[in-house]
Amino acid sequence: TPSVGLVGWRGMVGSVLMQRMQDEGDFANINPVFFSTSNAGGAAPSLAGTAEGSAGKLEDAYDVDALAKLPIIVTAQGGDYTKRVHTELRGRGWDGLWIDAASTLRMNDDSIIVLDPINRDVIDKGLVNGTKDFIGGNCTVSCMLMGLGGLFKNGLVEWGTSMTYQAASGGGARHMRELLSQFGTLNAEVSSELDDPASAILEIDRKVLAHQRTDIDATQFGVPLAGSLIPWIDADLGNGQSKEEWKAGVETNKILGTSDENRIIMDGLCIRIGAMRSHSQALTLKLREDLSVAEIETLLANDNEWAKVIPNTKEDSMAGLTPVAASGTLDIPVGRIRKMEMGPEYISAFTVGDQLLWGAAEPLRRMLNIATG
Ligand code: HSE
Repeated sequence: TPSVGLVGWRGMVGSVLMQRMQDEGDFANINPVFFSTSNAGGAAPSLAGTAEGSAGKLEDAYDVDALAKLPIIVTAQGGDYTKRVHTELRGRGWDGLWIDAASTLRMNDDSIIVLDPINRDVIDKGLVNGTKDFIGGNCTVSCMLMGLGGLFKNGLVEWGTSMTYQAASGGGARHMRELLSQFGTLNAEVSSELDDPASAILEIDRKVLAHQRTDIDATQFGVPLAGSLIPWIDADLGNGQSKEEWKAGVETNKILGTSDENRIIMDGLCIRIGAMRSHSQALTLKLREDLSVAEIETLLANDNEWAKVIPNTKEDSMAGLTPVAASGTLDIPVGRIRKMEMGPEYISAFTVGDQLLWGAAEPLRRMLNIATG
């Protein structure tokens, strides 16, 4: 039974990861060693499925000697931690497997982005060739590839745009709380008017807008998100593109392992909206072949067990193709598939995926199982 160091298991992504590992009985296959950046010496959590009394005390997540004893480390502690600890560990010759949710190492030549239903071949080749850093992909990229794997994996996409509708959870736990607090204070501003069916809607609207523009708390997001949106996510790369938008192209091709001549051009705009934890995206794809909608839907539905084709009707889309429908599930609904007016090779699609599951925790626990299986 391999010992596996777990770092950042208490944060939002880490908590989802621990829950999934318990649900799937993953702790039966490993000897977990829990680390903490703030509470070394405290009691390790007792999680379902871990051997009785095996958890012990929390180790210090900055103690490189303790980390270096382990053959596998899984971290959801974040990019700053990775920057600080990974280089030091590797610098002293540690050659264990590093499985990480943060983006820090993602585009390194010697790392692999893990999304095994899409790139198990790339992962297996990497394990044989001595790759040691296995990194979870950007949430929107992973969710897009899970939903549309049937087209991307078969080399059928020439280029695409993904226009995203990303949930508050992508910012973190505090961002989710802030969004809900904003909804609450907006409601409180006009609750008496809302109770009165005869009140004037334009007066309600004016009061809401005044609150959004003046005294709403937007400490986390910087500007109000409730009742609005934010058309920029992550750093400004200085060329008009955001870092989140850059990731779509580079990570898609790295995950798929496409060669330079088969490179898929992906670009689009990334937008934050007031959804809680599922990221959505509207896609325009230029296909390499004129496939019928039925053929496309069959390819998508058959690609992996999580992609769930939603028929392109109003009723089905409203019921099954939303953050409310997808959140907390491993399903990746994909729908709104139709030919666009630009021509027979141009299709639209819309897909939704839980940012914390396929977008973050799930590829990591599956990679751990591949490595220890
Ligand atoms: N960058 C993502 C977001 C988070 O802000 O939604 C997960 O990759």
